Amino acid sequence: MAIKTRFTEEFGIEKPIVQGGMQWVGYAEMVAPVAEAGCLGFLTALTQPTPEALAKEIARTREMTDKPFGVNITILPTITPPPYAEYRQAIIEGGIKIVETAGYKPQEHVDHFKAHGIKVIHKCTAVRHALSAERMGVDAISIDGFECAGHPGEDDIPGMILIPAAANKVKIPILASGGIADGRGLVAALALGADGINMGTRFCVTKEAPIPESFKQQMVANDERQTDLIFRTLHNTARVMRNAVSQEVVAIEKEGGAKFEDVQHLVSGKRGLAAMRDGDTDGGIWSAGQVQGLINDIPSVAELIDQIMGDAEAIIDKRLRAMRG
Ligand SMILES: Cc1cc2nc3c(=O)[nH]c(=O)nc-3n(C[C@H](O)[C@H](O)[C@H](O)COP(=O)(O)O)c2cc1C
Repeated sequence: MAIKTRFTEEFGIEKPIVQGGMQWVGYAEMVAPVAEAGCLGFLTALTQPTPEALAKEIARTREMTDKPFGVNITILPTITPPPYAEYRQAIIEGGIKIVETAGYKPQEHVDHFKAHGIKVIHKCTAVRHALSAERMGVDAISIDGFECAGHPGEDDIPGMILIPAAANKVKIPILASGGIADGRGLVAALALGADGINMGTRFCVTKEAPIPESFKQQMVANDERQTDLIFRTLHNTARVMRNAVSQEVVAIEKEGGAKFEDVQHLVSGKRGLAAMRDGDTDGGIWSAGQVQGLINDIPSVAELIDQIMGDAEAIIDKRLRAMRG
């Protein structure tokens, strides 16, 4: 049995499972096996140092799979923004047909992508933002509950509420994101009104994820309590794996440090990248969700997807059906 939803139908993807954009993870090595497994993977535009490098990464991914894949473009409020328009052009010229936007004010990008016949999934963390993206003309919403890795927003609404609240109001397809790792999560998301799921942390803990083995092992060892919320005082909350650095950031924020400069030395991308290069899980900040508590193995992407789909089908066909008496 396959699971057919508005998402699989409208986006031409075999299974209702998406691998969201992930800084320092969304390379060809991650995205190609996701595509090969019949799911939708996103390269992360800003993981590439330049728009030219992104063009090459798109070409490299295409050499590894002939199935569809997309690119994530995350729009951050920075003092010196990256050349977004040039990254966008690399995506358009690279023949990409699906883009995941995330972050602030995507309108300009949505307009350009739509003008080139590209479908846009906007990832957000609040129903009001989902509705505003729908008005902008995006084709689907990915909505991240408070559980998620990365930026959960400032409303602190868990997926159990956020997904049905979004489904009540949003007319276009919805992907439930945050806190999902298995077939139970997929069926629950569908029951709550979503048309598919988006996962981040679970995809990081696969054989193919291009991150150090020590990071994967740490996420397997961690339970659901091993995350920290940093940047709360800056109103730019990020959920990260709890480690020596995240604890130090939280302590500084608690002591009243409320400026980015107070923690900048701890959270810089450079430091995070060096920690990753060294496989040092205590070396920098690393995005990971509460869903770590549901992750107990390091399967290949194909094994993971087979397991999720098989479990989801068994829950629908056996467990739930049996409850009907
Ligand atoms: C290591 C890592 C890096 C991430 N980087 C980004 C990013 O650059 N842009 C983005 O839109 N989302 C990013 N995310 C969020 C994911 O795309 C996804 O929304 C989130 O992980 C879902 O929550 P989950 O981890 O509980 O599945 C990142 C997540 C992880 C785990």
